[in-house]
Formats: sequence, C-alpha cells, structure tokens
Amino acid sequence: MLRNIAILGTGGIADQALAPALREVEGARLWSVLSRDRDRAQAFARRHAAAAPRSAHDTLESLLADPDLDAVIVATPDGLHAGQVIAAARAGRHVLTEKPMAVSVEGGRAMVQACRDAGVQLGVGYHLRWHAGHRKMLQHIRAGGIGTLRHMRAHWTFQAADARDWRAQRENASWWSLSAVGTHCLDLIRWVMVPECGEVVALAGIVSREVWNGPHDETAIVTLRFESGATAEFCSSVLIDAPSRAEVYGSDGFIRCEDTLTRFGAGTIETREGRLDFDVCNPYVGEIRDFLEAIEHDQPPEVDGGEGLRNIELLAQVSK
Ligand SMILES: NC(=O)c1ccc[n+]([C@@H]2O[C@H](COP(=O)([O-])OP(=O)(O)OC[C@H]3O[C@@H](n4cnc5c(N)ncnc54)[C@H](OP(=O)(O)O)[C@@H]3O)[C@@H](O)[C@H]2O)c1
Repeated sequence: MLRNIAILGTGGIADQALAPALREVEGARLWSVLSRDRDRAQAFARRHAAAAPRSAHDTLESLLADPDLDAVIVATPDGLHAGQVIAAARAGRHVLTEKPMAVSVEGGRAMVQACRDAGVQLGVGYHLRWHAGHRKMLQHIRAGGIGTLRHMRAHWTFQAADARDWRAQRENASWWSLSAVGTHCLDLIRWVMVPECGEVVALAGIVSREVWNGPHDETAIVTLRFESGATAEFCSSVLIDAPSRAEVYGSDGFIRCEDTLTRFGAGTIETREGRLDFDVCNPYVGEIRDFLEAIEHDQPPEVDGGEGLRNIELLAQVSK
C-alpha cells in the first residue's frame, strides 16, 4: 500500500534531505507540502513531484483536511512542532517530527499524549541511528567487541555566520547549538549507552553565549553518568568549524568515528583491531522506512515520542 506523506516546512532539511529521501523509500510518496507562502509551497511541490491533486497548502487545516493523507513529517522550527504534531494527531495522521521534538518538556508530553489518544505513531528524526557505520558499530559493541562500556564522547560543531538563525532567538527555540547538533550527540550517546548502562542518573552542563550574547547556548558541554557508573560527555557549538567525532571506550577496546556525525552517512570508523567497513547510504531513507514500518505493523518507531521526550528532559537540565 502506497502511503501519502506531507512535509510541513520548505526549509533546509525538508528540501535537501527529507523530500529527496522520501523519493527513495518504496511504499511511500511525497503527497503535499505546507508553507507560510503559497508560491513557495507550489515551487517545493513541483521541485519534489508531490503527488496530490492539491499538493501546495498555506494552512495546516487545509493540508490535514485531505482525506487521502496518511502521515506528516514536521520540518519547521522547533517551537512549532508541538502545535503541529498535536493538530496532525487529532486529525488521525501519523507523525514523524524533526528533533528536538519540542522546546519544553510540557510540550513534548502533550505531543506524546495526543498521539497516544489518537492511536497514531509518533517518531522523532534522529537520523544518525540510520548511519550504516553507526549500526555496524552498535552490533560490534553489543557482541562484546569492546567489553563493558565505560565512557562515550561526542563532538559536533559548526561555524554560524551570524545570530540571525531562528535557533538563536527566543520565539521558536529553547537552545541553539544544543538544538542544531547537541541533541543528536545526546541521542547517539543514549542509543549506545542506555541499553547496557541503564538510564542517565546525573547530568551537568556548562553553556557559553559570549560571542553574540543572545538568549541561547553558542557552545554547550554536557557530562552524564549512567546507572552502571559509566560516563559520557558531548560538546556542541556554533562557533567551531571542524570535523565531528564520536568515541566509545570499553573495558576491552574502543571505537573512534571521524566525521560520521553529519547528514551524509559517510566518515570513517576505527576499532582497536582496524577499520570498520560500511556502505555509505542516506540515513534519512532508513529513518523514513522505519517510520513506515511502524505504521504498517502498528508498533512504535525506533525513536518514538518517549525517547524524544527523554532527550528534551535532559536538555532542559542543562543550565542556561
Ligand atoms: N535531523 C537533521 O539532520 C536536521 C537537520 C537540520 C534541521 N533539523 C530540524 O528540522 C527543523 C527545521 O530546521 P531547518 O534547518 O530545516 O530550518 P529552516 O531551514 O529554517 O526551515 C524551516 C522552515 O519552516 C517553515 N517555517 C514556518 N514558520 C516559520 C517561522 N516562524 N520561522 C522560520 N521558518 C518557519 C519555513 O518554511 P516556509 O517559509 O515555506 O513556511 C522554513 O523554511 C528543526 O526542528 C531542526 O532542528 C534536523
């Protein structure tokens, strides 16, 4: 059965990653799109061959009123996710929302509840889990390849040109570097560590915002401790142009990922025994496939609303 999927928002991730990935997913097609601007919606719908007879919308109400629509992908600024997800759920549509799922824990809880009440699936877009190398790394770890997990570190930064990004403003965001890349580092750490080491039991964070003096973090350093006593740390920043890195340390080995924390599914992964080979593939395709499987089999997606909520509960503990 071909699922009809709408995208909300026509910006960077929708245009460059999600709509192109949707084309590669068998069993689904881009159906319609929401923009604040009708012309922009039409141009996006044309560019990505949206299939609905009426594919371009400038209100969420008209997009959700389409009886042939099955699901929506929310790719708007963080502060809009909660309202849009709740409206979609109440209209009976499954939802895959971009990360972080909301700008407050209350908003995240309301999203989870609305989707539960409506009996629709809620997924959160942490695409790094579908990086083929990361999946291979996880298999190696779960097979005991580095022994008992002791520590993990992730570092993902970029250089912002100025502070005009909506993430740097109060209106539609609660975090800047933490929203753009830090939340991904945290998800990757939770994915690797929590099943073996238990939940996060302690967190400490330091943020710096001294370059543009806005309301949100320009750089954030976060440290974590898990039930087992294992630890983790990550750094996110909008002030540093450098390759990303993730490292996992166990009682019997280590893994180093160089430049795998990107949108592209590439980079290199080294273990103590040598390089871990993997195919470079588009992680957003895996993310959308998993969302479709959740719909087909009436089961939660790999990153469900509860996991997305845990992420923002922890981000909310990082001091301002
Ligand atoms: N998973 C990932 O790899 C990844 C990467 C980047 C971003 N994201 C997430 O995806 C979401 C969108 O991020 P983005 O980088 O694509 O942002 P963006 O380039 O600014 O695009 C957001 C789009 O949302 C729409 N929008 C509606 N109301 C808006 C408002 N008040 N201000 C600005 N835009 C508004 C706009 O489309 P119209 O102008 O057509 O209405 C805009 O193009 C965020 O939650 C972000 O964290 C995820």
